[in-house]
Amino acid sequence: MIGKKVLSFGLAAVLGGALASATIAGGLPGAPALTGSVFDAAAPVLRVAQADDEMLAAMMSEGEPIYQDFCSACHGTSGRGDVGPGLVGNGRLADPAFVYRQIAQGGSEMPGFDGVLSEEELLAVGHYVMNAWGNEYGPLTAETAGIAE
Ligand code: HEC
Repeated sequence: MIGKKVLSFGLAAVLGGALASATIAGGLPGAPALTGSVFDAAAPVLRVAQADDEMLAAMMSEGEPIYQDFCSACHGTSGRGDVGPGLVGNGRLADPAFVYRQIAQGGSEMPGFDGVLSEEELLAVGHYVMNAWGNEYGPLTAETAGIAE
């Protein structure tokens, strides 16, 4: 009799434990704490992503007037090309190191802008042409351009 009682008590404890963990997994009382800790862990990552977004948005606003002043005469006010090739949907812009080099050093007919524009301005206008007018060729930073110290 005693044995049976211990056994059923044990079973109740196991069932109770299973129920408790099922509740946590199913997310009733345990869920808010669990969600909270997942958010806490993701928060620094989210903040970094947000800072990047702000930096890239700032480069777009910095790059736009530089483009209009220094580039639009040859590439068109909306990047569709003129004496220079069109930059809208131009697959060569998918290579950030190429874009930076082209703008800094120029090409056979295009003048280089190294010394005319600062490194920050070169990156901003390059980032601008890679991401304006529906282009989505990603960020141009010192890292992606391959010029980071
Ligand atoms: C005097 C005209 C002229 C100006 C000003 C000029 N470009 Fe160019 N650009 C060209 C020509 C022509 C080419 C292609 C031939 C070459 O490399 O010289 C070219 C090529 C490019 C390319 C490579 C695209 C491809 O398909 O080869 C990029 C990117 C570019 N220019 C961006 C810029 C940016 C950004 C500016 C302003 C900072 C600028 N250009 C100013 C004439 C110009």
